[in-house]
Amino acid sequence: MTSYRGNPDAVRALVQDDRVHRDLYISQELFELEQEHFFANTWNYAGHESQIPKPGDYITNEIAGRPLIITRHTDGSVRVMMNRCAHKGSRLVSSPCGNTGKFFRCPYHAWTFKTDGSLLSIPLKNGYEGTQLHECESAKGLVTVKNVRSHRGFIFVKINDVGPGFEEYFGDSLSSIDNMADRSPEGELEIAGGCLRFIHQCNWKMFVENLNDTMHPMVAHESSAGTAKTMWADKPADEPKPMAIEQFVPFMSDYKFFEDMGVRTYDNGHSFTGVHFSIHSKYKAIPEYDDAMKAKYGEERTAQILGMARHNTVYYPNLTIKGAIQSIRVVKPIAADKCLVESWTFRLKGAPPELLQRTAMYNRLINSPFSVVGHDDLQAYRGIQAGLHASGNEWVSLHRNYDPAEKKGGEITTVGTNELPMRNQYRSWAKYMTETM
Ligand code: FES
Ligand SMILES: [Fe+2]
Repeated sequence: MTSYRGNPDAVRALVQDDRVHRDLYISQELFELEQEHFFANTWNYAGHESQIPKPGDYITNEIAGRPLIITRHTDGSVRVMMNRCAHKGSRLVSSPCGNTGKFFRCPYHAWTFKTDGSLLSIPLKNGYEGTQLHECESAKGLVTVKNVRSHRGFIFVKINDVGPGFEEYFGDSLSSIDNMADRSPEGELEIAGGCLRFIHQCNWKMFVENLNDTMHPMVAHESSAGTAKTMWADKPADEPKPMAIEQFVPFMSDYKFFEDMGVRTYDNGHSFTGVHFSIHSKYKAIPEYDDAMKAKYGEERTAQILGMARHNTVYYPNLTIKGAIQSIRVVKPIAADKCLVESWTFRLKGAPPELLQRTAMYNRLINSPFSVVGHDDLQAYRGIQAGLHASGNEWVSLHRNYDPAEKKGGEITTVGTNELPMRNQYRSWAKYMTETM
């Protein structure tokens, strides 16, 4: 077994131009190195501003194995801090969300910290007189994360001070988030309802690469979407389609559909499917919504916004969004062969309730733990996770439509069935993984 710790050359060798080594998915050592290096060197989604509207509101999260508090400071700014008391290291906050008032109070010995992380008070303070406390990190309060950026309410963080800034890292891929927010007649989104959590028995990278894998739906989803299609096949053409049928059936589109839909990749592993159209393009119009959009944006701009029906956009590594249906999925690695996928739904501010109904329906049908479509994917991931332990071939093929010119990067638009998005992800993975090794 190759040891990867302290061996960046061995890590880089796992990603070839058109294939990757199985250890990317099955090595627990690589999983630990990813937590330490890769996730800390990349911009990761941490939450949405609508989850913390008022001062003192907070959510907790874990990124790159680091426990984090994301909070709204008294001056209205978003602050991100390590969820670790400056005294003896206790987790400061245990709830996933809440309001802390003006300060955080440690449950162990009651040290308190302002919502910008600075130390507010210590019980029996005179016990520290003449000690070195004030010279060390503990007196500085909570460790804050400096690289924090919010784009249309989406909060991203980068733990380490290396690599590109926010704009350079995401570039024009941010247009997918813009489109999702522009779909609101007020230009704003808010998280609606709770989160659906779904444990996946697979490496997190399998989930992310599948999002732009358009060669699988008509095969892997035949049992679910195929059944919906068959059920609907005998209906007269003018029979109004129930929402579930409208959402299920396009998964069974043929190869040509997915090929023509197109895919676009960006530097640093980002990409989206549905450059020209997507499985979301034919949802029926909701007249009240169209009117509200036209009142805000005018006819031409409305057609432009709603005509952009991108399917999955991958904000590499941990966020995937479906702008056209206002839902996102966030992946949280747990072990080499296990990850948690969280699905969130958004309300388009100023839009009629049917829009949120459509989003919630899609999330239940496709993304949730009780989805019939989701289990098709899960079965495929489990199959790969088991199959990769076979001997005789240690490589995973990503050859489809490989073109050596793609290695120079930049924005590339190509046929929807190209495996370029995955190659693009793994080039980025090798780069950020080895940057601080
Ligand atoms: S560990 Fe937090 S106050 Fe002691
Ligand atoms: Fe799928």
